Parts: sequence; C-alpha cells; structure tokens
Amino acid sequence: MTTGFDVIIVGAGAAGLMCAMTAGARGRRVLLLDHAEAAGKKILISGGGRCNFTNLDTKADRFLSDNPHFCRAALAGYTPHDFIALVEKHGIAWHEKTLGQLFCDGSARQIVAMLLAECAAVGVDIRLSHRIMSVDQGFRVETDHGAFTAPSLVLATGGPSIPKMGASGFAYDIATGFGLKLVPPRPALVPLTFAGDDLAMMQPLSGVALDVIARTGKAAFPEAMLFTHRGLSGPAILQISSYWRAGQGITINLLPGIDAARVLIARKAERPNAALRTILGELLPQRLAQAWAARFDELTMGALRDRTLAEIADGLKSWSLMPAGSEGYAKAEVTAGGVATDGLSQRTLEAKAVPGLFVIGEAVDVTGWLGGYNFQWAWASGYAAGHAS
Ligand code: FDA
Repeated sequence: MTTGFDVIIVGAGAAGLMCAMTAGARGRRVLLLDHAEAAGKKILISGGGRCNFTNLDTKADRFLSDNPHFCRAALAGYTPHDFIALVEKHGIAWHEKTLGQLFCDGSARQIVAMLLAECAAVGVDIRLSHRIMSVDQGFRVETDHGAFTAPSLVLATGGPSIPKMGASGFAYDIATGFGLKLVPPRPALVPLTFAGDDLAMMQPLSGVALDVIARTGKAAFPEAMLFTHRGLSGPAILQISSYWRAGQGITINLLPGIDAARVLIARKAERPNAALRTILGELLPQRLAQAWAARFDELTMGALRDRTLAEIADGLKSWSLMPAGSEGYAKAEVTAGGVATDGLSQRTLEAKAVPGLFVIGEAVDVTGWLGGYNFQWAWASGYAAGHAS
C-alpha cells in the first residue's frame, strides 16, 4: 500500500526536525522518516550532553563552503535569536559559555523533546526504524515498512561522520542520482594524527592541555589544544582540521601573547643557574616544558647564548608540524563538503533542476566552525526548506 503526504523528510536529526515542524505549522501533511530507532541522536550527544545549540556570532564567515556566500540567505531568515525564542517558549534554561556559544543548563534531551513536541503539535507523522530501499521521481519512497509518496522530498540525513551512530552517505547517493553534484566530502572538526619523532614526543604528553594559536594556511584559531596518544586535539586543532588538507603543514604558537625571546633572555640575566626546564615550566605545563627542554641537554639558562634562547622562543612561538592524517569519520564532529550549493536555491534549499527536491543541514556543502554554528545551519536550512516544501 502507498500512503500520500505533502512532504517527505528523510532524516530526523536537527535539520529534519526543524523542517518538519515548520512545514507542519503551514498545514502541510509531513512524514519524517529515519532508519535509527530514535530521533535527534547527534543532538543528544552534542556539547558534552548539554547541546551547544547556537552561536550568537553566527555570520557567513564562520562557515566553509565552495560558495562562502551561499549560507547567508538561510542564516538571515532564521537567526540565533529565533532559536533562543523557541528554547525560551519551552522554558529551557540556557547560558553562554564562551565565544558566543549557547548551551542548555540542563540536558540536550530538552532540545530533542522540544523539537518533538513542536512536531507533535502540528501533526508531523514520525516513523523511526524505517530502512529506505529506494527513492524515485515524483517522489516515491520505498521502505521496509511500505511505500510513501509526496510532491516534496527533503534530504536531511547529514554526512557520514560518526558512522556508528547511523550516519550515512544517503543524501549524497540520492542527490547525485537526481543529477546534483558533490563537493568531495572529508572529515572536519577532527583530531589530527602524527607519526615518527613528532608522535614520539606527543604520546607521553597525552592529556596535557594549554591555550595556543593553531594555524594552517590563512586560518588561525586561538583556543585550547590537547595532546593525545595519536597526536593533537582540542578546539584549536578541531577548528584548523576543517581547513587542513593532506600534505599541508600546521603551525602552533605555544606561548600566545608572550614575547618569549624577551622573557627568556630576561630570566637568564635574573637566574643564570636555573635550569631551562624550570624557566619553561613557569610558562608552559610542566610535562610539556620538560619535553621541550630535553631537546637542549638539560642546560642551565646561563649556559645558553641569547641567540639560542631566541631560537628556542621562536620554536615555541611557531612550532611547525606536518600531520600524518586525521582520525577520520569515526571521530569527526562534522563532514565538510557534500551536496554542491550551485545546484541549490540559497533561499529555499530546493534543487534548481529538480522541483520539489530539497537538501538541508550537514548534507549540504556548508560546514560551520566549532561552537554551535553547525546546529544553527541545521535550524536555518531546515526552516528555509520547511517554508518552501
Ligand atoms: P544529523 O546527523 O543530525 O541527522 C541526520 C539524521 O538522518 C539522523 O537521525 C540519522 O539517523 C538519519 N539518517 C542517516 N542516514 C539515513 C538513511 N540512510 N536513512 C534514513 N535515515 C538516515 N554541532 C553544534 O552546532 N554544536 C554542538 O555542540 C555539536 N556537538 C557535536 C558533538 C558530536 C559528538 C558530533 C558528532 C557532532 C556535533 N555537532 C555539534 C554537529 C551537529 O551534530 C551536526 O552538524 C548536526 O547534527 C547536523 O544536523 P543534520 O540534521 O544535518 O544531521
């Protein structure tokens, strides 16, 4: 038996839920399908369980895309303040953590419950644990629980990051089947891995964190960095990973805001008998200071020439590294690349050449920085398509 709807949305994640409640509020008969047994699973694990649901500094330059202007229209149509109003309507307490990042005081579960309540209020038919077998023109969606038809089809299945949570390349397969192009997908917001001497130096430092400025190409992020047993992670590294390409170097300033050469030369004059590692330990976490000083044979400050101290300072201010790779989709918070924006309307996210087909959220070649930007894109693109589908 085939059941008819006005809109079928595949993917009950952040973008799909927002699209469903928006289309439902317009009186559309909406079917929301997902192969997972629960809706909004990535929302539940986001922001350490508190969901960093938006960022007050949302603007187009916080997003990566082959067309950096594409996201503007949707972001302007549904702003962080619109989402805050929704959160407040549901009595969900929230706070700003840092850098404009807004989190729930309580739990990410509240955000999922809010979206599900909005969908229920407007009669969205949500069907979980449905495996999609095929999608045909028109649109006809064949599942392991029967077939459904609708004149509008919204692809909201995200990207392939964190496959163990049910993430898939479904949207890419269907979109390309309808003639849309892909910007090659790649893991983003992902820890970087290292090899050889670099890894040998990093591994014993696993767990050490400090504030740095991480750079690759023109991208620079002043945030925290964490040593891991495979290399480097923490917000600064996750941010630059989205810009990093294989074979490209990165640079880390381990002493941001400190004129390291001046400080080291002054400390030599004041305390010539102090060990280099003692002085570095006053500027850096102890374990990192020791590892760094070990390269200089445990010398005392007085035994080091000013020129050598200036070189040590330079090394700390611009530590140049060549990542071996990244931890891949298994650990990537998002997928960069995706359905190419040139085939989509920036106002409605509808495919220009396939009336009634929409692609929203992470499946599109729009990727936000760390800090609530990816959810804001999911809400804004879902809202835009919900108004047009
Ligand atoms: P999303 O992945 O949310 O939803 C896709 C849905 O489609 C899922 O329900 C999935 O089951 C379903 N699906 C997939 N394939 C299917 C198929 N073949 N058939 C049927 N259904 C299918 N962002 C942010 O702004 N702030 C934050 O705090 C965090 N934190 C965070 C933590 C972690 C650990 C991760 C992995 C990611 C984040 N993110 C984040 C990123 C954010 O979760 C992500 O960008 C959005 O969830 C994307 O929303 P979408 O709706 O596009 O995809």
